[in-house]
Amino acid sequence: MSSPTNLLIIGAGPNQVPAIRLAKQRGYRVVVTDIDPKAEGFALADETGLASTRDADATVAFARQSHAKHPLTGVMTMASESAVTVAKVAAALGLPGLNPAAAWRATHKVERQRCWRAAGIAAPRFDEARDLAGALKVAEQLGWPVVVKPVDSAGSRGVRKVNSPAEMGAAVAEIAEHSKRPEFLIEEFLTGSEHSIEGIVIDGQVTWCGFSDRNYDNKEIYPPYFLEDGDSMPTTLAAGRLAEVQALSTRAVKALGITWGPVKGDILVAQDGPRMIEMAARLSGDYFCYETIPLHNGINLLEAVMNQSVDLPVEPAMVQPKFHQGVALRYVWPKPGKVKAITGVEAVRKLPGVHFFKWEPRWRDIGVGTVINPARSMGERVGCVMTFAPTRAEAIRIAETACRMIKIETE
Ligand SMILES: Nc1ncnc2c1ncn2[C@@H]1O[C@H](COP(=O)(O)OP(=O)(O)O)[C@@H](O)[C@H]1O
Ligand SMILES: [Mg+2]
Repeated sequence: MSSPTNLLIIGAGPNQVPAIRLAKQRGYRVVVTDIDPKAEGFALADETGLASTRDADATVAFARQSHAKHPLTGVMTMASESAVTVAKVAAALGLPGLNPAAAWRATHKVERQRCWRAAGIAAPRFDEARDLAGALKVAEQLGWPVVVKPVDSAGSRGVRKVNSPAEMGAAVAEIAEHSKRPEFLIEEFLTGSEHSIEGIVIDGQVTWCGFSDRNYDNKEIYPPYFLEDGDSMPTTLAAGRLAEVQALSTRAVKALGITWGPVKGDILVAQDGPRMIEMAARLSGDYFCYETIPLHNGINLLEAVMNQSVDLPVEPAMVQPKFHQGVALRYVWPKPGKVKAITGVEAVRKLPGVHFFKWEPRWRDIGVGTVINPARSMGERVGCVMTFAPTRAEAIRIAETACRMIKIETE
């Protein structure tokens, strides 16, 4: 009898649970690693290892031991910024995966920008700095305002808009909270519409499967942080512009040397054309790859990437749209304070066109008395609603109605 498919999933937090559950549904033996012994995915797995998702050496050491007892078929993650860890495990054990050097270029924000500059990919003007004096010098060269980013974070953590020299000290100090590295990135601040793109690279060929308009209507409500309030599909970009953005994204993937696996990009379309903000070699978070895109067009990239990771074929039909409908994701941002009352949740869940309303993982136990602090990153959103309708406008209307119906009174 052949042994069952044995899949290692890097990360066992709420963002990886959908992958862990899918692997279990498929009948796989599932191994997970996480630095948190209480990670909720541990309870779902067949074998667990304690290692940070960012600690490639510790994860490789654990994977080697595990592999010696129960040979692994594949390794993957979702939503976690751990492409380098995944790639190094795959390389160490001879499993399907991306070359670790490409994973590094797709993760380290300065390396990525350097690659793109060398390849002539349109992206924000940038430079790196290591301290306050260096940061001020770079900002003077780029022109104010600028955006300051840790090189190794995700989910907008530590990403700030800096308007003037007086604000730079706090931005540089915050980088250290989010980054283990001395260098950080400074970019020119751009304005325009913002978009997510996600796809899969098979034998060096990129197939784009999802493209959304990110909702940044409230981008600067908690300055200096940027807040994304969900996204909408299909895009309202004109077909020609969309094709241009997709072509730029494909060139950005190739410039990083990504020849295998998931790719997730952030694009800003400025008045004078699109710029690549980010391209990561991993599946998206925030429901995009396994809820938003499937609800919009029937493509499930989590399924496709799991196939690829365990060396099963990704049939062309798996990455082709099966239908199109409007989808919207919007978040609930209560006024910071102590919760006095919550109403409307059950009524929202019954609304036609509501796919789900969920509390974000860290707010699952929200109730009277919970204290809500002002949001500083995406991780601090409180609840979210996903809706669908024949048109995008209708899906957005339902989502906005739903968000108004959820009342979280704070004092
Ligand atoms: N140069 C820029 N100009 C304007 N906004 C930016 C710029 N860079 C990033 N942002 C905003 O900050 C968000 C997070 O930045 P990003 O580089 O994608 O980092 P992360 O890895 O944390 O997602 C982006 O989605 C965008 O809204
Ligand atoms: Mg991003």
